[in-house]
Amino acid sequence: MTIQAVNKLYDIDFPHRTIVKGDGLAASKIMLIGEAPGREEVEQGKPFVGKAGKNLAEFMQVLGIERKNIFITNTVKFRPVKISDCNTVSNRPPTDDEIRLFLPYLLKEIDVISPKIIVTLGNTPLKALLGGGVTVGKLHGTINNFGGRTLYALYHPAAIIYNPPLKDVYINDLKKLKNILG
Ligand code: URA
Repeated sequence: MTIQAVNKLYDIDFPHRTIVKGDGLAASKIMLIGEAPGREEVEQGKPFVGKAGKNLAEFMQVLGIERKNIFITNTVKFRPVKISDCNTVSNRPPTDDEIRLFLPYLLKEIDVISPKIIVTLGNTPLKALLGGGVTVGKLHGTINNFGGRTLYALYHPAAIIYNPPLKDVYINDLKKLKNILG
C-alpha cells in the first residue's frame, strides 16, 4: 500500500477546516493514534509535529524505532478550537460528535494500514475504539483486542507535561511495548 493510496482514503471536505491526514510508513506494523491536530500540525499538514511531537520523539527513542517507520494518525482530523472573548484561538478536546464524525475514517485507516499493533495515545482514541466506559488510567500498559488486532494503550505524551509523576509509569509502559514488539 503506497501513501498515495492511503491518502485517497480521506475523501473529506469540511469548508474552512484543514484536514490533517495520517503520515508515515503505510506498510508499518505499528499504528499510533493521537487525539487531534493542533496549530503546528495544521500549519505543517502532519500529525505530531508541534510540542507533542517532541514528546513523541522521546517515545520513539525508548522504543528504538524511527518515526519514518511507523504510521501516525489522529482520531479527529481537524483542529478543535475555542475562541476566547478577546478573540484568541486555542485548542480544546474534541467533542463526542467530532469523534463520531471521524470514526469511519479512522476505521478505514486501520483496515488499509492493517497494523499488527495499534497504540492509542490518551483517552480519545481509546474510547473511540473500545467504547465510552474505558479509561487510559485503567488500561495503560495493557494489551487489548480490537477487531482481532492488538491494541496497546498508552497515556498521551502531552499528559506527561501536565503531570510529571506520570513519566516513570509512561517509560515503564513503553518498555513493555518494546518487549511486545520484540
Ligand atoms: N498533535 C497531534 O497531532 N495529535 C495530538 O493528539 C496532539 C498533538
